[in-house]
Amino acid sequence: MQPYKPECSRVQKVIAYHLATKHHLDHYARAPGYMEWATQPNPFRSYEGTNHIRLPFVEYDSTASYEALYDRKGHPVKPVTLENVAAFLELSLGLSAWKSTPGGSWVLRMNPSSGNLHPTEAHLLLPPLERESAGVFHYNSYFHALEPRAAIAHPVWKQMEGYFGSRGFLIALTSIFWREAWKYGERAFRYCQHDTGHALAALSLSAALLGWKVTYLHTVSDAAVRRILGFDRMKWAPLEEEQPEALCWVSPAQHGEIPRDLPEELVRTFDSLEFQGHPNRLSPEHVHWKIIDEVAEASGKPTTIRRKTPVHEEPFLKSMSIEIQAAKVIRQRRSAVSFDGATSISKDQFLSILDRTLPRIVPPFDLDLGEPHVHFLLFVHRVTGLESGLYFFIRNPEDEGQIRSLTREGFLWKQVENEFPLYQLIEGNMEEEASLVSCRQSIAGDSCFSLGMITKFLPVVEEGAYSYRHLFWETGIVGQVLYLEAEAHGIRSTGIGCFFDNEVHRILRLNDITFQSLYHFTMGGAVEDTRLQTWPPYTHLKSPGLMNT
Ligand SMILES: Cc1cc2nc3c(=O)[nH]c(=O)nc-3n(C[C@H](O)[C@H](O)[C@H](O)COP(=O)(O)O)c2cc1C
Repeated sequence: MQPYKPECSRVQKVIAYHLATKHHLDHYARAPGYMEWATQPNPFRSYEGTNHIRLPFVEYDSTASYEALYDRKGHPVKPVTLENVAAFLELSLGLSAWKSTPGGSWVLRMNPSSGNLHPTEAHLLLPPLERESAGVFHYNSYFHALEPRAAIAHPVWKQMEGYFGSRGFLIALTSIFWREAWKYGERAFRYCQHDTGHALAALSLSAALLGWKVTYLHTVSDAAVRRILGFDRMKWAPLEEEQPEALCWVSPAQHGEIPRDLPEELVRTFDSLEFQGHPNRLSPEHVHWKIIDEVAEASGKPTTIRRKTPVHEEPFLKSMSIEIQAAKVIRQRRSAVSFDGATSISKDQFLSILDRTLPRIVPPFDLDLGEPHVHFLLFVHRVTGLESGLYFFIRNPEDEGQIRSLTREGFLWKQVENEFPLYQLIEGNMEEEASLVSCRQSIAGDSCFSLGMITKFLPVVEEGAYSYRHLFWETGIVGQVLYLEAEAHGIRSTGIGCFFDNEVHRILRLNDITFQSLYHFTMGGAVEDTRLQTWPPYTHLKSPGLMNT
């Protein structure tokens, strides 16, 4: 393969970054190698000098079933009020629990994050709600509060709603790369992108409970997002800048066609807004990982033209009825830190979990990220009624021929069930192999199954370097569904960002970068750490001083 030179095109820079940040059996991607506690970034951004608008907490959770999360028909459409926006945010990006040991406490959120470092921030452009005028707000999840940054004149907001054709609002996700780079060094950019995907799915699923739909505005450029959020006029501390990721429109689900762009006349109106608030300082000092700046710039989103993605409207093939409330599943989602190496699930459960990840016009897959590119290489350890072994799950049939032709010749490709895209490749115990490729983490072998997300890579990135981010977002979106599925089936899962990239490719005998493994996942019977105490999520607001971080 030709070495990629960083001074080349955006596509080549993105590929160079990807290759340089692989973990190998004998060395890891460049990282500090230890944690410098004195410079640990604050996981909560606030805009100092703004007056918090404290949001109400959900008093009674929606009684909608978990099944209904994936079926838009079941949810009455709630009006866009401050109370409902608060519920939307609480069940997507809000806090989920405090954990403590005698040595300290830390807080978890509804959305997971690599290392619990939470690089993802959210900004909202809201219509006039109760006593608040329309404006640009930052969501501060620690206080469950909105920080008003700029007021939007009434006629401008009317123009916005007129353009989108419904009452609704915009939400923008941004990343602070330093938060992940502090611990993970150069590979951190990848983790920020996974986290964006998890957050997008969390928003989409939380919106579904309110009868709302989140749509990614895939034509909009990062430059436009910077302008509407006032970032182009912001003074950031070095390396603490928020970088635009995704801008979405949130509106009643049953509404007709939604534009995917934001016209220049509308963006221009934000240039004259007066923004207030200064981003808080996150760390006293930083380590500069230059390659992250390079990949961030190279994969930045330009304005692009609207594309149409083929619609997948197949019914669920393997659905099992699960008697549990959606909100309960969302609130209880956690990452397992250890598995018991004994719990098994049934074949029906396994197939139903996989089926749920197939792209369909249901949340979160109707965000409109584009054509699906993520497939699973599965290490099946404990599924009753299914032989242990290596399996492949095809999430987009368009890729099947290419995957078969690029992978090892001796694979069985034995279809497990008619009309279900799951194939056995090898029979046998894969526990050691699974842990090994996931950076020797036992969670990948002691589970019911683990998987590598084999993703179409070079042809997608060649179409536009910004697609590099989208690929990781897709893995995060699929990962969020896997997290919730595990909870709904009474087990637990964990996203795995640490894996030896080329060892996974070696199993498949992938000799080029047409496909790459971008994310791993594992699911099984969790072993709880009994040394940890759990506290309700907003204990620090109700009993100040109780939780010390
Ligand atoms: C992108 C991503 C990568 C992760 N990688 C690993 C990993 O390699 N090993 C691990 O034990 N946990 C991993 N996790 C789990 C996080 O550590 C976990 O989400 C975080 O501590 C917050 O806990 P929670 O998921 O229970 O809210 C990962 C999570 C995400 C979202």
